[in-house]
Amino acid sequence: MNGNEVVRVIDKVSEGRGITTLRFELDRTVRPGQFFMVWVPGVDEVPMSASYIGKLKGITVREVGEATKALSSVKVGEMIGIRGPYGRGFMQPAGRYLVVGGGTGIAAVLPAIEMSKDRSIVDVALGARTSSELIFEERARKASDHVMVSTDDGSKGHHGTVVSLVDEMLSKRSYSQLIACGPEKMLFYLLEVCKKHGVESQMSLERFMKCGSGLCGSCVIDGRRVCADGPVFLGREIDEMKEFGRSKRDEAGRSVPL
Ligand SMILES: Cc1cc2nc3c(=O)[nH]c(=O)nc-3n(C[C@H](O)[C@H](O)[C@H](O)COP(=O)(O)OP(=O)(O)OC[C@H]3O[C@@H](n4cnc5c(N)ncnc54)[C@H](O)[C@@H]3O)c2cc1C
Ligand code: FES
Repeated sequence: MNGNEVVRVIDKVSEGRGITTLRFELDRTVRPGQFFMVWVPGVDEVPMSASYIGKLKGITVREVGEATKALSSVKVGEMIGIRGPYGRGFMQPAGRYLVVGGGTGIAAVLPAIEMSKDRSIVDVALGARTSSELIFEERARKASDHVMVSTDDGSKGHHGTVVSLVDEMLSKRSYSQLIACGPEKMLFYLLEVCKKHGVESQMSLERFMKCGSGLCGSCVIDGRRVCADGPVFLGREIDEMKEFGRSKRDEAGRSVPL
């Protein structure tokens, strides 16, 4: 059952500059990597990854425009609309795996770190532009023995992109698979690094979504519906997508460069 439900926000946390987590009760099973369509009354409905999937569900919002600013301003006790969960989530790999999150994409991969019952088989690489945008590091450390961080400006951890950090990690240790979410340019170069090291991956993609449930076609990339066939795809599936890392569709369905 994934119809529309209006829920009361019961917890609100500021995670970093312009990044807010809202939590609410929702009696539905959610898998790591799935997303909700979140309705902000009077404003819009937007896709948001599930950043908490236990009894208390949650979303973590980065303010970019009208809907995300309105969502960030919702107060504890106020109501929001939730449809979903939607999409194909992350599958737990057999053996040791590496989870990579870039920017707000970290929120989407946190449940994939926590799905491992054995903290010694899940390693983590988290990357942000600067330390104030690095979210959920402590939460990741509770679920994994090996968490590395990178910042583009060198304000914390490895100085450079999370892709260069992952390249180093893949040189030192073997993994059965890599799980990732982040900006598409980051995923584009991450896929190259995975191919270089011969590691299969699961990556979560973002496209413009309207229905969120496979009906309207607005989120299509190379014939695949990101909302229903994804948002998580295997690296070898993404490698065949000509639009990946190059172009996306805007609100009107026009193809625009990434
Ligand atoms: C599967 C999925 C999961 C996502 N998870 C998160 C998350 O966990 N946290 C988070 O902060 N953001 C997430 N996003 C992005 C988020 O949906 C957009 O930032 C948001 O819709 C912007 O709306 P706005 O009105 O604030 O900004 P606008 O000013 O309307 O748009 C700013 C930019 O956001 C993107 N965008 C706008 N509307 C949509 C839409 N309906 N679908 C997809 N992209 C859109 C476009 O690139 C647009 O250029 C996710 C997107 C997808 C597709
Ligand atoms: S958003 Fe409508 S088909 Fe994906």
